Amino acid sequence: MTKILCVVGARPNFMKIAPLMDALKGHPRLSGILVHTGQHYDEAMSKSFFDDLRIPKPDLNLDVGSGTHAAQTAHIMETFEPVVTAQRPDLVLVVGDVNSTLACSVTAAKLLVPVAHVEAGLRSFDRTMPEEINRLVTDAVSDLLFTTEQSAAENLLKEGVPAEKIHFVGNVMIDTLVRHLDAAKRSRMLEQLMLTPRGYALVTLHRPSNVDHAEGVREMLAAFRRLAERVPIVFPIHPRTRQRLADFGLEREVSAIPHLTLTEPLGYLDFLQLMRHAALVLTDSGGIQEETTYLGVPCLTLRDNTERPVTVTHGTNRLIGRLNAQRIMAEADRILAGGAGATRIPALWDGHAAQRIVEILDRWAQARAKTTSC
Ligand code: UD1
Repeated sequence: MTKILCVVGARPNFMKIAPLMDALKGHPRLSGILVHTGQHYDEAMSKSFFDDLRIPKPDLNLDVGSGTHAAQTAHIMETFEPVVTAQRPDLVLVVGDVNSTLACSVTAAKLLVPVAHVEAGLRSFDRTMPEEINRLVTDAVSDLLFTTEQSAAENLLKEGVPAEKIHFVGNVMIDTLVRHLDAAKRSRMLEQLMLTPRGYALVTLHRPSNVDHAEGVREMLAAFRRLAERVPIVFPIHPRTRQRLADFGLEREVSAIPHLTLTEPLGYLDFLQLMRHAALVLTDSGGIQEETTYLGVPCLTLRDNTERPVTVTHGTNRLIGRLNAQRIMAEADRILAGGAGATRIPALWDGHAAQRIVEILDRWAQARAKTTSC
């Protein structure tokens, strides 16, 4: 058996690993061992996703928790190293672009264990984003690079990655979405929040560039006040954003905005149900840009750039820069007046990416076994 250590750490990793663990289950030649670094640990940020997506319980949990970037990354590396040494895997598989992705890929590479990166090659070309550094470093030490869109291969080739390491397989996050569309219908979120389909805006904001300074958070509240006059807003709030509201003494102010509902971070199925029926989504997340593109729901991304350009060229995504109430209102008005435009689902976002990845891993393992036995 080829032993693959599959790593997850933070919320956006869970929906990416779910279809892979599923495709590895019962495989005659590949065996997946799931390691959770514990970067995210709250029930709402971690366990609820394991439950909703039926991800097997992690075989190992490193319980690293929060910290500065250096402290968190170092802690993950220190705890993951003995795991790799003891487990002696044939491959370490990482997903996405969080600190756990970087820490575990570098640790494995230094122990001479091959690394597979799922969602490789995405580039925002903005090195002020911690995720961009994570993407660059992870790809530089990876042996198998699985990509979700055409731009990724172009980026990797320009960086000197040999073409034979790059595999265009589609999007595992969309595999999960496709599989759970039916189950999400059982969510009662719309009824609970008294919302009607296409009658509300859904917001998620947590990037340091938007929420880590008081000015940005004040602008966010100004935008909410104006937007909520047009449509009710639902805002499942990330712990980091909640913390910033408290730091800046703005908790009361936000709760006082009429027609704005703040909720705790939602589970996968509840969020999916809210997203698919929203009139528009306002976000600074990476994954939500892709999910709204698949669902055909208009998305305004509060960033200057995106590492996922296919969501703009083919999908519903529009980059509108960092928080600016006036710009948000102009764009929201356009969408609410019915001006979202037609979209296309990007190539290979078809629900079968994990299957393709596992087939490639199987071929890779067989070829490797042949060279070692020669
Ligand atoms: C991380 C990822 C980001 C991703 C986001 C999704 C990195 C560099 N960033 O950012 O790419 O979009 O996850 O959520 O890896 N906290 C809790 N409970 C938790 C986890 C975190 O309260 O379960 C709080 C802590 O105060 C922590 C803060 O949130 O300090 C930030 O968590 P952290 O994992 O450092 O980064 P995120 O902002 O969540």
